[in-house]
Amino acid sequence: MCFVRKISSVGVIGAGTMGHGIAETVALAGYTVRLEDAYPEALDRAMRAIRVSLDRFVSSGRIDRSKADEAYARISYHGSLEEAVEGVELVVEAVPEDVELKRGLFAKLAKLTPKGVILGSNTSNIRITRIAAGTGREGDIVGIHFFNPPVIMKGVEVIRGEGTSDEVFEDAVSFVASLGKKPIRVLKDTPGFVVNRITAPEGLLFCLLLDRGVSHAEVDAYFKRQGLPMGPYELMDYVGVDVVAHSMEYYGDELSADYKKCSSLSAMVRQGRLGLKSGRGFYEWRENKAVIPQANPSSPVELMDILSLEVNEAVKLVEQGVADPEDIEEGVKLGLNRPFGPITAANNISQEELKTRLERLSLTFAVDVFKPAKTIVEGNLKQLLSSSHAQQVGKHTQGEQYVAVDRPSPKVARITLENTRNNLINAEVLDQLEEAVRSLWNNREVVVILVTGKGENFSAGAQLNQLFQSGMDFTEMSRRGQRVFRLLSEVPKLTVAEMKGYVLGGGFELSLACDMRLSTEEAQIGFPELTLGLLPGWGGTQRLSRLIGLSRATQLVLTSERISGRQAYEWGLVSKLITKERADDEAAAYAAELATRVAPVAAALAKRLLNKGSEIPMDNGLEWEATAMGLLYGTEDLREGISAFLQKRKAEFKGR
Ligand SMILES: NC(=O)c1ccc[n+]([C@@H]2O[C@H](COP(=O)([O-])OP(=O)(O)OC[C@H]3O[C@@H](n4cnc5c(N)ncnc54)[C@H](O)[C@@H]3O)[C@@H](O)[C@H]2O)c1
Repeated sequence: MCFVRKISSVGVIGAGTMGHGIAETVALAGYTVRLEDAYPEALDRAMRAIRVSLDRFVSSGRIDRSKADEAYARISYHGSLEEAVEGVELVVEAVPEDVELKRGLFAKLAKLTPKGVILGSNTSNIRITRIAAGTGREGDIVGIHFFNPPVIMKGVEVIRGEGTSDEVFEDAVSFVASLGKKPIRVLKDTPGFVVNRITAPEGLLFCLLLDRGVSHAEVDAYFKRQGLPMGPYELMDYVGVDVVAHSMEYYGDELSADYKKCSSLSAMVRQGRLGLKSGRGFYEWRENKAVIPQANPSSPVELMDILSLEVNEAVKLVEQGVADPEDIEEGVKLGLNRPFGPITAANNISQEELKTRLERLSLTFAVDVFKPAKTIVEGNLKQLLSSSHAQQVGKHTQGEQYVAVDRPSPKVARITLENTRNNLINAEVLDQLEEAVRSLWNNREVVVILVTGKGENFSAGAQLNQLFQSGMDFTEMSRRGQRVFRLLSEVPKLTVAEMKGYVLGGGFELSLACDMRLSTEEAQIGFPELTLGLLPGWGGTQRLSRLIGLSRATQLVLTSERISGRQAYEWGLVSKLITKERADDEAAAYAAELATRVAPVAAALAKRLLNKGSEIPMDNGLEWEATAMGLLYGTEDLREGISAFLQKRKAEFKGR
């Protein structure tokens, strides 16, 4: 990570729901924070809420007491804007969602801060270009959109306004990454940006259903039965009916007059039925919980209709160059806490079904916003999603090659590390590994990715002489490796590690990010980190225990003992042993056979469900499983799998 400017002190304006959480998040990452609000009681509330939240982190063991106290001490509280922005290098504004209020505030911020101070807005919907217009500081103004609650939610949209300079955009991206968050790059300014824009059509649809007299309780019961943690109307109550109504109005002005076609929400706002915040909306709210009456689960629209609307809006965003598919997928997953986003859904719904559902919705409700996007009508969905991805991959620089990709068989891609005899992993290797994984992401011919090392070793770990620089660099190097290995663990392909020779430290962590591991009996596997004063920092402390249990993981991490490939096989960490002399051939043969045995779409979905299973409640996991089954329903591979079974022949899957 490199900031063009030094950032150590951050001003946060508005200390409400978002502002206090943003201040806490930024302070936890080591920055000094100056938090300001126009109302003293809001500052008092913020101070108490931050203390409570930090204490909760301590009692749950996520941070230690000294870290919490240090973060708390880094935040100062201010009643004037002048004081709050004194000496800061970056500002995040989080005042209420009102265009004129924000424009007035940015005009003041532009005068109070010297040129070069980044002025970020946490607006949910308002175009950054509109907020920045006329300030004379358009280049310094950028969207930095956290999700609620900021301390927990991992994604943050970074939005480039029409006037935002390249440096400010990139520095805002680096700043977000330095908070331990995933920056979602929004390359073109549009109302609602990515995540809120993708859910805008369903907001309109649920509002139109109300106009037509559906029972909100029945619809909520239906969607909860489909696995959503809250029904759509309960969610509106939770977010604020006024907030949703206000977004609809804004989209009506800025995106399409369709958003003005529904009236139920504004009627509720006029009656003061705002949801949780007013104690009554669709439901009564007591002690922050909705009192939901028993209702018969029933809805005129299905979950698949909602997914289709999301896919459609995601496609429009890609068509318009607002964001790359990968950012859209991550944004929706991280912003809405979903196990998969609209790009995964797009890759798994047949275009015909998508088109039919969208046309039906558009006709039934007389809404153009629901009409299928041009790419869907023309049947070019898959091309659009893979070509924009290719552009993204093409941005990477070319230099010496440390990672090679080849195709040992038609459905297998092999990624080979080739840096020194031990295949050490450094920053360039990580970058090239990332590029290799991304380049295969949407390649429909590839079903299995085999990861190996050139020669006799898999990888002996990180190239230590490159790592020791400063503490900050060290943390960033850890995050970089985690990011790349996470990418590998999430790629919608089956991944197989070929373990041989040294499989140590970062090399061992690389193998743990794969779905399956093959190993020679003689391979030397372990974490030498503690003997070097280090710890496994590329996911090793987290992934190993999930795979083989805490006791054995503790043994390997804390003692730095090495085990053999055979031992790893006996522990269940390795699924198959291969012979040392023919390791490469046997691994390639295993991958080739696996790639023709399983249906690719089903495998990609099952992999995601397995990986996410430990992170979400069982009931939700089961419902997502059922939804994934629904996605498989339209695939050719399902028909092929079943007819091949009945005809007693081997299925020939096409990945669609
Ligand atoms: N609440 C969410 O779920 C959420 C999520 C993402 C983004 N946002 C966006 O974040 C922003 C803030 O939302 P929120 O939910 O925190 O609102 P909020 O009403 O909880 O907090 C706003 C705070 O701003 C203060 N304020 C008002 N005028 C001010 C001024 N001129 N100067 C300084 N302080 C002022 C208020 O006293 C209040 O404490 C909005 O733009 C909203 O759209 C909200």
